[in-house]
Amino acid sequence: MELHTFKDYHSMSHAASDSMLRAVMSKPDAVICLATGHTPCLTYRLWVEKILQKNINVSNCFFIGLDEWVGIRADKEGTCHHFLYNYIFHPLHVPESNLHLFNPMSKNLEEECVQMNEIIHSRNGIDMITLGIGMNGHLGFNEPGASLYNDAHVVKLDATTQTVGQKYFATVQSISRGITIGLRQIMQSKKIIVLANGFGKAHIIKQALEGKISTSLPASLLRNCHQATCYIDEEAATLLRK
Ligand code: PGA
Repeated sequence: MELHTFKDYHSMSHAASDSMLRAVMSKPDAVICLATGHTPCLTYRLWVEKILQKNINVSNCFFIGLDEWVGIRADKEGTCHHFLYNYIFHPLHVPESNLHLFNPMSKNLEEECVQMNEIIHSRNGIDMITLGIGMNGHLGFNEPGASLYNDAHVVKLDATTQTVGQKYFATVQSISRGITIGLRQIMQSKKIIVLANGFGKAHIIKQALEGKISTSLPASLLRNCHQATCYIDEEAATLLRK
């Protein structure tokens, strides 16, 4: 994995959005998987702006969901659905036929996983994935201890994710389960962009980049991925060895 450190959130987001832009310019029918969360907001805003300004054709790109909170209606503010429509699908006019997200209210979550696996497989995997890093080092909802060999699966969220996850919602939610693509699918993605900013992420960034590479900290596994680039700001880099 390559590491790039930037002065601040703004310059980090600019560089990451440029990298995302290069990906869709070099592969106009890319399969794209985008994390939600606070970290990538500016990267996505800039990416969308640049696509529109430069008139880049993304009508042949296909978007898949990384993860979702189980049992919360998709249209509620705070869900991954809501985020992706707001930041990406509405501004880029992505038709429903060019996206596939997990249905968090499905009566058959296993079937949701099967469908997602089939879609990823039939499209020859993910061309570009943009990820944040959870406070516990998770990737998507691959929590500490997740298997390296997992494809899409339903997961019991760990205590950190349940607590931290409340920040996305206006009122307290019961968020005990998630649905996510697996570490195998993430790590097999052809281009991996990882983002982290702010002092709040400094400790987990140090563990992920300088600690043991282990499934007990999923983000650390990306160090073995030659196709991964990590973009962080100076605050998130505070605790790293110089
Ligand atoms: P955040 O979430 O960007 O809101 O910090 C990151 C994550 O949980 O993956």
